[in-house]
Amino acid sequence: MKIVIAGGTGFLGHALAQALAADRHDVVVLTRGGAPGSDDASAPRRVVWTPNGNAGPWAAEIDGAGAVVNLAGESIAARRWSTAQKNRIRESRLLATRSLTTAMREAPKPPRVFISGSAVGYYGDRGDETLTEASAPGTDFLAGLCKEWEAAANAVGDLTRVALVRTGIVLDRKGGALPKMLPPFYLFAGGPIGSGRQYQPWIHRDDWVRMVAWSLTNDAARGALNATGPRPITNKEFSAALGHALGRPSIMPAPPFALRIALGEMADALLLSSQRVLPVRATDLGFRFRFSNIDEALADIFPTR
Ligand SMILES: NC(=O)c1ccc[n+]([C@@H]2O[C@H](COP(=O)([O-])OP(=O)(O)OC[C@H]3O[C@@H](n4cnc5c(N)ncnc54)[C@H](OP(=O)(O)O)[C@@H]3O)[C@@H](O)[C@H]2O)c1
Repeated sequence: MKIVIAGGTGFLGHALAQALAADRHDVVVLTRGGAPGSDDASAPRRVVWTPNGNAGPWAAEIDGAGAVVNLAGESIAARRWSTAQKNRIRESRLLATRSLTTAMREAPKPPRVFISGSAVGYYGDRGDETLTEASAPGTDFLAGLCKEWEAAANAVGDLTRVALVRTGIVLDRKGGALPKMLPPFYLFAGGPIGSGRQYQPWIHRDDWVRMVAWSLTNDAARGALNATGPRPITNKEFSAALGHALGRPSIMPAPPFALRIALGEMADALLLSSQRVLPVRATDLGFRFRFSNIDEALADIFPTR
């Protein structure tokens, strides 16, 4: 199948593109950057696009493709959330999504499926409440962003199957949030964040890639899909598991006031908020996780211990 991945150069998109290309799919990555050639005929092909809300010459790749995957957008955690940065985070996702949906609508042969990114931030800060895809959205910045982002993707719901991947914290050694958590542990100063009672929805990167690949071909996978592991744990449990995997103690809590001084609003939204999310839709549709248990996931990620 021909699969077009917008944002396919990123932490998740690159892993997905590699896995799909290895499965002999014809993978095209839309990137704002250069499009270097590759000697490897099976490597994902890069095509330059301008995600400005409109279609462009790149839209020829969408016409006749089997699937489009949308992971493009300004990084959520790269910079402190000034008003300008929050605008960039929001606008980049909405414009990229509109570019893709415009291209799909204009294509003589639109794709059979559109997988569009979203995040567990959709639910906001919800304490111990069990959250499924049917739960109501939260009210903070990320929740509003996810609602708008999903609505922008649903604009082609009459044209193609739309699946909205509400991703949790994706665990991998080389990218995403996990490498940023390691330094205090290596310095024997790791521990829970704040009270540690907040639920932290996690998923091993391999399972995230497998779930997106599965949703490409599973016609029942439509609407919201929580891309989180089936056994949600608190930050305290996660920190203990990480300490164990690294052979380091997990006893020094990071005080919320210090995180708020360092990170501002981002500290509450990304580190202190609680989302006890269950992947009900994927599980009901028969998706099987390789890593359900945090200890097994971390043992796979840090195999030397
Ligand atoms: N990683 C996680 O744990 C996690 C959790 C929940 C949700 N998500 C969401 O899943 C999506 C993919 O995550 P990721 O970790 O792979 O992100 P990432 O590494 O930051 O990659 C995002 C890609 O989007 C493109 N991009 C960056 N800034 C952009 C802008 N201003 N306008 C348009 N495109 C831009 C970049 O591609 P080019 O530079 O090649 O154009 C980049 O490769 C993101 O929307 C993220 O918010 C991720």
